[in-house]
Formats: sequence, C-alpha cells, structure tokens
Amino acid sequence: MKAVFGLFLTLLRLSNAGNIYCDGREDGAWCFAALGGTVIIQLMNSTSGITKYEWKNKTTVILKGTENNFTLQNRSCFIPSNGTVGIKNLNMTDSGEYTLNVFDSKGKNVESRTLQLIVQAPVSSVQLVTECLTQLEMKVSCLSDGGDSPQYSWTLDGHKLTDSELLSGQSETNVIILKQSVTGRLACSVGNQISVGSKEQNISACKEYTASETHCDGTEDGAQCFGALGGAVIIQLTNNISGISDHIGGNSTSLILSAKDNNSFLNFNQSRSFYVSSNGTVIIENLSRTDDGQYILEIFDSEGQKTLRTLHLTTEAPVSSVQLVSECLSQGQMKVSCLSKGGDSPQYNWSLNGNTLSDSELLSGHSETNIIILRPNIPGRLVCSVRNQVSYALEEKVLFVCPDTSLLIHSLLFVTTLLSCAVICLYFQLRKNKCNREFVTS
Ligand SMILES: *[C@@H]1O[C@H](CO)[C@@H](O)[C@H](O)[C@H]1NC(C)=O
Ligand SMILES: *[C@@H]1O[C@H](CO)[C@@H](O)[C@H](O)[C@H]1NC(C)=O
Ligand SMILES: *[C@@H]1O[C@H](CO)[C@@H](O)[C@H](O)[C@H]1NC(C)=O
Ligand SMILES: *[C@@H]1O[C@H](CO)[C@@H](O)[C@H](O)[C@H]1NC(C)=O
Ligand SMILES: *[C@@H]1O[C@H](CO)[C@@H](O)[C@H](O)[C@H]1NC(C)=O
Repeated sequence: MKAVFGLFLTLLRLSNAGNIYCDGREDGAWCFAALGGTVIIQLMNSTSGITKYEWKNKTTVILKGTENNFTLQNRSCFIPSNGTVGIKNLNMTDSGEYTLNVFDSKGKNVESRTLQLIVQAPVSSVQLVTECLTQLEMKVSCLSDGGDSPQYSWTLDGHKLTDSELLSGQSETNVIILKQSVTGRLACSVGNQISVGSKEQNISACKEYTASETHCDGTEDGAQCFGALGGAVIIQLTNNISGISDHIGGNSTSLILSAKDNNSFLNFNQSRSFYVSSNGTVIIENLSRTDDGQYILEIFDSEGQKTLRTLHLTTEAPVSSVQLVSECLSQGQMKVSCLSKGGDSPQYNWSLNGNTLSDSELLSGHSETNIIILRPNIPGRLVCSVRNQVSYALEEKVLFVCPDTSLLIHSLLFVTTLLSCAVICLYFQLRKNKCNREFVTS
C-alpha cells in the first residue's frame, strides 16, 4: 500500500492538463487514471530495434506493431519514438491488467510485462454536515459525491486534530465527534489516487437550543410566524425601509397596531411590543398564548399608498429535558420511549449510529414515533431528537443487549411439564399398585 501511495504522489506531480502520465516500463506497475480522462503510459523507451510487439488487456489487443508500423484500437494513440501510448475517455471497464509482449524475428515471445490500470471516479462536491449531540459535542460528517476509495483528512485552524479536540473518530474517518466547545475553522479534505477535494467551515460551539428569541420573515403576505412562550419574536416586516414613512397601522384579533409619528418606535397597545423603524422589524416580547392569531398590517409608503398584508403568529411551549427510557421485552427486543417535558406539537426523530432507523432494526414504530421497539441484538448509539417550531432537544443512549428470556421460559415450561407428567405417572403407578394390592388381598 505504501508503494502505491508513493506512486500516487509521483503521478500527480507528472500529470499535466488533465492527462495522467504513468511509467509502465517496469513489470507490475500500477497506473491510476480519472474516469473520463486520459492516461498516458510509457510502455518502452522506443520501438527502435524491436521486431514485433503487442499490448493487450484480457480481451482486446490495443496496440500491435513492428519497428516501423503499428495498428491501434480507437480511443488510443501511440508515439513510437518514445514508446508512449495514450487512452482517452477512460471508463471503468478499462480498469484491469494490461500485458506487453515483445517478439523476436522468429516470432518467439522474448519479453512480457504487465501493468494494472485503475480508473477511478474523481472526488467532487465535498460537504460538511454538523449536528449537535447531547453533551453538546459536535458530530461532523464529511460527505462527497463520487470518488472511489476516498481517503479523509481533517484540520482545525490549519493543524491536525488533536486528542484534546476529538472525542471519537480519527483524523482519517469521514465522521468525527468534536469535544464540547471546540471552535475554529474546520476543513475536511477527501482524496483518492487521482483527485482531491475539500471543504471548510467555521465551527461554533453547540448550544442548548430553546429559542427565547425567534425570527420570522413577514415580508410576504400570509407568513407563518412561530414564537416561544415567554420568549420574543422578531418579525421582519419590510426589507426596503427607504420608501416607507414611519406609518404602520393595522389590526388583529388580539393586538391593535397604532401609529405614533416622529418616533422610531411605533408602540403597540402593550408595552412589550414595538417597531424598530431603522430596520423594519417588529418585536413582541414575553409572548403568551393570547398573542396567537392573525395579524393584518397596513403599510403606507411615502405617497400614502397603503399595502395590506396578513401574518399568522403561533406560540409554542419549547421542548425540554428529553429522556430515553428502555425496557427489555421477552424475546430480547428492546422497547425505547422518548419522553420530553412540555413542548407543543413535538416531532420525534431517531437515529442509530448516525443513520435513520431501518426496518432491519425496527420491529415496530417508525422513525417519527416516540415509542419504538428494536429487534434483538441491535448495538450502537441511539439518539432521539425532539423538535417543534421553536426548540430542539435530544438525548442519546448506548444500547445494551437484552437477554432472550423466552428461552428460559421455554425451559421452565418444559421442566414443569416433565414434572407434571412424572407426578401423574406416579399417581397412576401408586393406584395400580394399590389395586393390585387390593386385588391380591381380597
Ligand atoms: C513522447 O513524445 C511526444 C511527441 O514528441 C511528446 O509529446 C511526449 O511528451 C513524449 N513523452 C514522453 C514520456 O517523453
Ligand atoms: C479491454 O480494452 C478495451 C478497449 O480499450 C475495452 O473496451 C475493454 O473493456 C477492456 N476489457 C477489459 C477486460 O479490460
Ligand atoms: C381591521 O382592518 C381591516 C382593514 O382595514 C378592516 O376591514 C376590519 O374591519 C378591521 N377589523 C377590526 C376588528 O378592527
Ligand atoms: C433590528 O433591530 C433590532 C434592535 O436593534 C434588533 O434586535 C433586530 O435583530 C434587528 N433586526 C434585523 C433583521 O436586523
Ligand atoms: C410576562 O407575561 C406574564 C403574563 O403573561 C407576566 O406574568 C410576566 O410578569 C411577564 N414577564 C415580564 C418579564 O414582563
């Protein structure tokens, strides 16, 4: 593998203009090339002095010739003066073993060399996906499209990840877990023998997310806004404040907007609601259920032209303290319940080792219910996340294996049955003896 890696470096250095050069003059050479690209392979120093040669793969003779003449498969070219063959538009089926045979004037095969051509899809569009875990560690996955045999490497602020930053995964895996409050510029690079791709992202520490403040875009008619009970909602009413005078009016089922001139805040009836004219937002603080409803906004431009717009506000209690409760069932299955305090319209989502639960793991329930039953012997790290429009919380648990008590029960049943049989037999035996005795004595 080391030898292959060394070769890889050489190849990259020699390649130019998308063509990959490979020296095939040594027996057993490895050549890596990009899918759709061109590979240039030096087969020999030159054809001068060589009576006859052929170069083939397992099925096809690609090149054959004499000192002065040659024939070629299409997609290929050959330069006799330096013994270099090129193949363009490479596809996966071009991968494999290639053999060069050299013959003397009597037609005897005097030399034979093989090389391995490996065509790989290049790595493309590398992406980083981050996810916060229970103890506020951050799980980061590095994903790439295509790319055969990808190798990963990570850096944080330009240096390799250290043990004080990594909780799990190594610097060479595509999924890592960063310890709590690790921040900086994280980069993942993905490479195979023929290409390299990378992606960088600023990582900020995971925070418990129970929004006391939610943002809503109210610039479109019919906007749906959500706020957390007791929290604040910041509603953007207009993007372009320049053409709008300080007039905002309107009404709603629960709140009347009233305009006050020459004041950067337009006060609503309640003191906890105000309008910030400098950026066109409305802020409603200390939200309660009575704030729910439809709002009608009247916006006047400087010509006094009025625009009407509606907006719907819904307040939700945030989700808090998620708990996972597990219970072993008789045949080794495990029932797991995901419980959360508070939280309106909670939505559940399960994952096992970072993947959505599949039918091969689930006996009943699905990935969006709050109670699931797992098949026996499913190991790993189970995560239940609960979210609604204003909050997000999760809990995780390392699964243990439930014992299959049904075997025990079956054995017990078996023993009990045996014992009952024995007792019944004994009874009849005794009776028989008694009868015999009675019969004999009578
Ligand atoms: C072989 O010759 C061609 C044509 O002169 C040249 O373009 C190419 O770079 C040469 N290749 C090597 C490996 O010397
Ligand atoms: C042999 O080479 C031909 C022409 O390049 C190609 O079409 C074919 O798939 C190759 N077969 C194998 C087994 O490598
Ligand atoms: C609210 O405003 C609309 C449009 O100006 C008006 O038609 C409606 O009667 C008003 N409703 C209330 C309850 O004031
Ligand atoms: C508008 O200004 C207020 C007060 O400074 C601020 O809280 C709010 O986040 C701003 N909104 C936007 C969208 O920048
Ligand atoms: C928020 O509103 C509630 C009633 O809905 C009130 O009891 C509480 O004092 C308010 N809190 C603040 C900080 O204004």
